[in-house]
Amino acid sequence: MSKKTVIDFMNMKKNGEKVAWVTAYDFPTASFAEQAGMDMLLVGDSLGMVTLGYDGTIPVTMDDEIRHCQAVRRGAPNTFVVGDMPFGSYQISPEEAVKNAVRFLKEANVDAVKLEGGRRVIPQIKAIVDAGIVVIGHIGLTPQSSGQLGGFKAQGRTIDSARDLIKDAIAIEEAGARMLLLEAVPPEVTEFIAKKLQIPVYSIGAGLPCDGQLTICGDMLGMFQAFTPKFVKVYCQVAETEIAAFKEYVKDIKECKFPEDKHVYHIIDSKEDFDKLFEEF
Ligand code: KIV
Repeated sequence: MSKKTVIDFMNMKKNGEKVAWVTAYDFPTASFAEQAGMDMLLVGDSLGMVTLGYDGTIPVTMDDEIRHCQAVRRGAPNTFVVGDMPFGSYQISPEEAVKNAVRFLKEANVDAVKLEGGRRVIPQIKAIVDAGIVVIGHIGLTPQSSGQLGGFKAQGRTIDSARDLIKDAIAIEEAGARMLLLEAVPPEVTEFIAKKLQIPVYSIGAGLPCDGQLTICGDMLGMFQAFTPKFVKVYCQVAETEIAAFKEYVKDIKECKFPEDKHVYHIIDSKEDFDKLFEEF
């Protein structure tokens, strides 16, 4: 299967074909997702919580993102990969934003970058687009500014908040972004924005009526144990499976049940020759 492009995603919107994307931070997850036919992969800065063990996304650096994007690209060479601009990589100035977006493409060969924020980051979106890079907007619950939002809270539930989101969405499209992600937004608002915009509008916790869905891999695979947001559907319990396997492994070792004969390499020369060798010492 060949890698999809922004044109494919536009056509999928026109044809009502939904896009499936998931976050990935490492080679095996990216490879499994590609084998499963995933349309798109996000190396989210959620990597800070899901993979690196931080409390939030703020400590994630450009170097962290680049390293994990490289692994994901190696695991999924034929999938559209999105690098997530971490906190501090684009807020300071449009020039900094372009410099860091360029790093994503040159060092990790991603297909697009995503950044959080609405009208306040329009100069950054425009500058990155002008550099020829595909930008994905991200509004609603924006984890990097969750402090300002008063925590990890759904957005767009009141008229004032929905009006703000709609204005942000329109401004992001006008600035040249090629896709928009809505996080933790009521489906009524999602549907309006998805119909209003020409570009594909995707949801993470923003309901069904839009052009596709994103989920954090650690959540849907039952790997992230700290909390599971309301909007997540858990498809399997990797943590439980891993813990059970590790327990069995520990028990096997303590009881000398592992390794078995089939797990070892046998000598090729004769036992007698080996006995003579051991007597030399
Ligand atoms: O970092 C991430 O995975 C994200 C999602 C929460 C959208 O930005």
